[in-house]
Amino acid sequence: MLTDNSKTDIKLGVIGLGYMGLVTAVGLALKGYDVVGFEKTPDRKTPIINGEIPFFEPGLQEAFDSAKDRFTVASSMDELVSQSDVFFICVGTPVDREGKIELSYLMDAVDELVRSLRRTDKRDFIVVVRSTVIPGTGEKVVEKIEEAGYVCGKDFGYASYPEFLREGSALKDFLEPHKIVFGASDIRTEGILTEIFSKFPAPLFALPVRESETLKYLDNIWHAVKVVFANEVLRASEVFDVDAFRLMRVFCEDTKLNISPAYLRPGFAFGGSCLPKDLKAFVSAVKERKGDDLLPMLKSVIFSNEVHIERIRDWIAGVAEKLGLKKLFVVGLAFKPQTDDCRESPAIKLSEALLSLQFPLKVYDPLVDCDRAKSCFPELSLLQPEHWCSLEEGLSWADAVVLTGSFVNRDVLSCGKPIFDLNRAVPLGFSGEVLCPFQSP
Ligand SMILES: NC(=O)c1ccc[n+]([C@@H]2O[C@H](COP(=O)([O-])OP(=O)(O)OC[C@H]3O[C@@H](n4cnc5c(N)ncnc54)[C@H](O)[C@@H]3O)[C@@H](O)[C@H]2O)c1
Repeated sequence: MLTDNSKTDIKLGVIGLGYMGLVTAVGLALKGYDVVGFEKTPDRKTPIINGEIPFFEPGLQEAFDSAKDRFTVASSMDELVSQSDVFFICVGTPVDREGKIELSYLMDAVDELVRSLRRTDKRDFIVVVRSTVIPGTGEKVVEKIEEAGYVCGKDFGYASYPEFLREGSALKDFLEPHKIVFGASDIRTEGILTEIFSKFPAPLFALPVRESETLKYLDNIWHAVKVVFANEVLRASEVFDVDAFRLMRVFCEDTKLNISPAYLRPGFAFGGSCLPKDLKAFVSAVKERKGDDLLPMLKSVIFSNEVHIERIRDWIAGVAEKLGLKKLFVVGLAFKPQTDDCRESPAIKLSEALLSLQFPLKVYDPLVDCDRAKSCFPELSLLQPEHWCSLEEGLSWADAVVLTGSFVNRDVLSCGKPIFDLNRAVPLGFSGEVLCPFQSP
């Protein structure tokens, strides 16, 4: 087992010695820290005190044995508090029948910790929540500690430091993480945690606390979506009599577009001549042969894309009303930049939706004219010539510009009008008024 012998002065406490907490405690001890753990359930605590891991996790018993001189178990929260300065809370955060997160274990642990702290004159401690918690939970924890008379950033620091380990390879995942993500309340806390993390060979991402809390969910949700995608492929492959395993192997070979950051940038909806058509054709072919409920996730993709366009429409309408903006100029109509193809263009759908909300509207695309758009959407009112104009005309006529894609130039940036920037096309540092989706002005 890899043990780091460079001892350090920071004393670490771990509250909750379950699957994640015990790995955290043992792992930190292996990295050279003095760690004291506290566990309240006797079924867990007693074996640990007796030197036994109370659940199966490969390699953990051996690691625990070799970390023994740096890891002790406290008999009470008071003892843990007296022996440590940084408290890693690792208690469970299950969900109830409705899927709502149950924070009572966390809040009870914080209460107990604060009660113990108040029996000392300890200051400058750090509370780190490692449990997976819904964004905004950190603020509630800080509030609870402050109610006891401590001031965050002065008497104590707060941090979110979610864990990404997987049971079965938990110790290795902890000791050699793919990444370390954390969010700290203040510079001192960030500095101390950065020092602790310096013993881990992993890229470090310091985020705002809420984003650190959120990222943990994104990872797990993404993994769940991947499993469901692969299994929908499996079910569809039975319908088409093809080999899902060979298909997914080849699918994963494409690390440019498939297993890559491509298409993972938040922004406007998808459209075009291929994605909507092929998704619909695939789902419909399976439905025709095997019924409607074989591919629920794929079936919901088109719906979710339409919801996105509606939400953007409502957000633009709401902001425009708030700021007194009436005349809107939509720039970018093709389904994506660098093409004149308007098939299934979300920008055209959005423009039509804004028109139907009675916004005076003009549109422009450097590569698309009214006749080309008409060939894709013959029935739309947007296709009346009075809605089409040059860039210069639109910019001087409008109260605000709606940038749907990546087309942006000096004329747009210097027009002095608010810009609804649906795809983050406006360069960073631009000093004009930029409105990004769902942000309120
Ligand atoms: N298990 C994993 O693989 C994993 C991975 C990453 C993140 N997480 C997250 O870590 C958190 C813990 O998960 P887990 O699987 O280790 O749960 P777990 O139930 O195995 O462990 C939680 C432990 O905390 C103890 N505890 C509860 N309240 C306490 C208190 N006030 N004082 C002392 N001990 C207390 C419990 O008795 C229990 O032993 C969850 O939020 C989970 O989502 C788990």
